[in-house]
Amino acid sequence: MCGIMGYVGGREASSILLDGLRRLEYRGYDSAGIGTIDSKHKLNVVKDVGKVEQLAQKTELGGLRGIAGIAHTRWATHGGVTSENAHPHLSCKQEVAIVHNGIIENYLELRQELEGRGHRFISETDSEVIAHLIEEVYERKKDLLSTLIDVVQRLKGAYAFAAILVDAPNVMVGARQDAPLVVGLGKSENFLASDALAFIGNTDRVVFLDNRELVLLTEKNVKIYDFAGNLIQKPATQIAWELGSVSRREFEHYTLKEIHEQKDAVLQALRQDPRSVDYFVDAVQGAGKVYLTGCGTSFHAALLAKLLFTSYAKIPVEVLLSSEFEQYEGMLDEKSLLIAVSQSGETADVLSAVKAAKKMGARVLSIVNAMGSTLVRESACTLLNNCGPEIGVAATKSFTAQLMIFNMLALRLGHRDDELSELWSTGSLVEKALGLEDQVREMTERIHVANDFYFVGRSIHHPLALEGALKLKELSYIHAEGMAAGELKHGSLALISEGVPVVVLNPEDATYADTLSNASEVKARGGRIIGVSNKPSKVYDEYIEIPAAPPVLYPVLEAVPLQMMAYYAAISRQQNPDYPRNLAKSVTVK
Ligand code: F6R
Repeated sequence: MCGIMGYVGGREASSILLDGLRRLEYRGYDSAGIGTIDSKHKLNVVKDVGKVEQLAQKTELGGLRGIAGIAHTRWATHGGVTSENAHPHLSCKQEVAIVHNGIIENYLELRQELEGRGHRFISETDSEVIAHLIEEVYERKKDLLSTLIDVVQRLKGAYAFAAILVDAPNVMVGARQDAPLVVGLGKSENFLASDALAFIGNTDRVVFLDNRELVLLTEKNVKIYDFAGNLIQKPATQIAWELGSVSRREFEHYTLKEIHEQKDAVLQALRQDPRSVDYFVDAVQGAGKVYLTGCGTSFHAALLAKLLFTSYAKIPVEVLLSSEFEQYEGMLDEKSLLIAVSQSGETADVLSAVKAAKKMGARVLSIVNAMGSTLVRESACTLLNNCGPEIGVAATKSFTAQLMIFNMLALRLGHRDDELSELWSTGSLVEKALGLEDQVREMTERIHVANDFYFVGRSIHHPLALEGALKLKELSYIHAEGMAAGELKHGSLALISEGVPVVVLNPEDATYADTLSNASEVKARGGRIIGVSNKPSKVYDEYIEIPAAPPVLYPVLEAVPLQMMAYYAAISRQQNPDYPRNLAKSVTVK
């Protein structure tokens, strides 16, 4: 969703900011803009709807001078996709510019109040009130810190913002409340962003701001305060995400690169601090009741974890959709354990589920990819996916990394330590599955014209059926449904007619024979069966052969051809798989 980037230092800000915006593109956005203060203490803003590259082509950008600036990619919530609604927003006297992520819940009330005192608004956004408020308070106080303290007292909602003022041309300020904001520490320059990826090419030393914190940055200094104005000392963290892993390398899209990275990612996910794994195991064993929560693909990983915990460790688990968590008011208590699963660690639905669970007294652990994210900070303990930044909007390597962590936990909980070592074979097995690429591409080029696809599997293959359908929908815009194979005959079989593709997830395990019967029922009604298995059958019209493996690993191996199918369906339909329409990588609104 929206992205913030800010810079203050000795270099020309606009090109650094533009570069930062390019790195934030993956989050999903519909307009972008940059604002800087020049040597004549004048604020200059260039913004428009469309892509960052369109912004980069604008001739006005060349005239954007200054060593302090802020930039933004906007994903519209309040107000349509127009250049007026794009950020940065200016105050009436054009003395303050702000960029903002999140939602100011009381913006209507504030706007009315400010308009009553003569402020003129240009946009329909909730964000613009921040610029006017800062201008008004600063005029009175002439002090940045006390202005910020006053302004944040007035704002309700979840937000992160950055601002520059003509009166303080070498300073950038920011505030965080329930939306991420990270400081990047450079040499005689400093950065502020909603995501460290925005500045990672310039520095890997960061300070993650916590909720209710303010920051004032100059090229030499970074000062962090709480909302009451107390100075806070915070340690810097070195982040391990190297610049290289943010580039597409030889791949045409990030999504394809990230699918290929899974051969390493599945092993990286196993490289956990043993103390954290012990903490998880003890917490699950000691809990009165275990709950898992997540959204989208992470929810599918949680569904699989439930089956693994139940069958390997006989530990009953409930999986609750984060976006539905309000339904469960009063259900958790002090003996409950909630494990939240999230790639970004910033999904608003997940964070709000965590907040609600904590309020009920539950202990919260998490499985997260983005280190330093809000979810990590809200959890008693986290197992990180360790799979590096995932830029493609669709979750791929983060999903299989989540599955590997759950495999490891389930085997540990089930005292099946002898099987744990088998998990290390996953890297070479995934590599074999990646060898299916040409076959999957060729098949997808033939069948992508179908209007509807179905994905079926039993037991641990059911969450993969859901995931296969989700991937196909979001990348190619083809309608797809995933379901438990045994459920077909209870209704959906009515939809099967000549040539309708049905992907049957059927490796050789306890579910094999029953799933094959379900596939035969579909075939008898004209369905086109795409079998994903290690064992061929004449029932399959198309056969995607995944390598034979210990059963616990089959879901990881199935994920690879399903992701490739979705990727090549998008390519065949001339869609950009990295940035599906209407979607954002980090869904920071409820
Ligand atoms: C699907 C996808 C989404 C996310 C969901 C949760 O490919 O990426 O369904 O899985 O928005 O996001 P995280 O895992 O960041 O909480």
